[in-house]
Order: sequence, then structure tokens, then C-alpha cells
Amino acid sequence: MKLTSLTLAVAMFGGAAVAAEVGPREVQFNEDGGVEASLSGMPGDPAKGAVVMATKSMGNCVACHAVTALSDTPFHGEVGPELDGAGDRWDEAALRGLLVNPKMMFEGTVMPAFYVIDGFTRPGDAYTGKAAQGDLDPLLSAQDIEDVVAFLMTLK
Ligand code: HEC
Repeated sequence: MKLTSLTLAVAMFGGAAVAAEVGPREVQFNEDGGVEASLSGMPGDPAKGAVVMATKSMGNCVACHAVTALSDTPFHGEVGPELDGAGDRWDEAALRGLLVNPKMMFEGTVMPAFYVIDGFTRPGDAYTGKAAQGDLDPLLSAQDIEDVVAFLMTLK
């Protein structure tokens, strides 16, 4: 349904900005599990990325990762490695790929895929015990991912 309205929007406005967005099913991985091209076609904003990472209803990265630069947010988890220096350890493509679907790099990881809409065991539709209908939204939008990548690149 979403794809149809997106296609419609592109058709109607011929819109460069809309057309440039890469949908969750269209992401191209390189052989290392990285993703070279911006998902939104726009540069990321590191300040917004920091908010996405610290916000529970968004990335909630701090639930699993300690990040010194986000120490205003209490209770960082230790499930995943500390992210200080992530911008030195990884390049932009690798970080983007890791956020889209970390299973391309770390098989069987508990880290969620933030830009995937299928291939899950579907969660039940609010207590009915029936699988939810239709496509699930990705956990983060294309621009959220770009913002988080931009923030991670500042962690030197
Ligand atoms: C449920 C826990 C969990 C959440 C939530 C989570 N991660 Fe991870 N992450 C992991 C684990 C575990 C690893 C280590 C990979 C492995 O071996 O499974 C990892 C690995 C990473 C790495 C590579 C580690 C390194 O050396 O720097 C980065 C970068 C990363 N995560 C970023 C993020 C970001 C950004 C978010 C939020 C958008 C996030 N993670 C959310 C668990 C999590």
C-alpha cells in the first residue's frame, strides 16, 4: 500500500527528493554487508542521530550500547560493544549496512535490523494471537538511519 502511494507521489510530482529514497526491499548491500548510497538521498544530521539513538521509541541503541557522547541519557546497556570510536572502526557504508540489517555482518546477532520489513516471525496483532496484517513499518525511517550514521561517524 505504501509503495503504491510512494509510486503515485513520484509519478505526480516527478519528485527528485521522493524518488531518491531507497525502500527497505531495494537496499543494495556490497560484499562486506555495507550499503554505499544514502537511503534518503540526503545527508544525515548528527544532532538528530544522537536523539534517535537515545530515544526509547526510536533507535534505543543505548539500551544495548554504552556511548560516552550520550552520557546525558542514563542507564546504558552492555549487551553490545561500547560505540566510542565507532567512526574510526567502521566507514560510513559499513555503519549504514549494520543499521539496515546487522545480520549481514554478524550472523545471529541480537541487534535489531532497523530497516527491514519482512523476513521476521510476525508479532501478534495486539493480544489477538493473530499475526499482524500487511507490511510492518521499518523500526527507523531512511532519514533516521542517515542521521544515526552521521552521528556514529563523529565518534572518533
Ligand atoms: C538488543 C541490543 C542492541 C540494540 C538495541 C542495538 N544494538 Fe548494536 N550491537 C548489538 C550487539 C550484540 C552487537 C555486536 C555484534 C554481535 O556480535 O552480535 C552490536 C554491534 C553494533 C555495532 C558494531 C560494534 C562496533 O564495533 O562499533 C554498531 C556500530 C552498533 N551496534 C550500532 C548500533 C546502533 C546505532 C543502534 C541503534 C540504532 C544499535 N546498535 C542497537 C546489540 C544491539
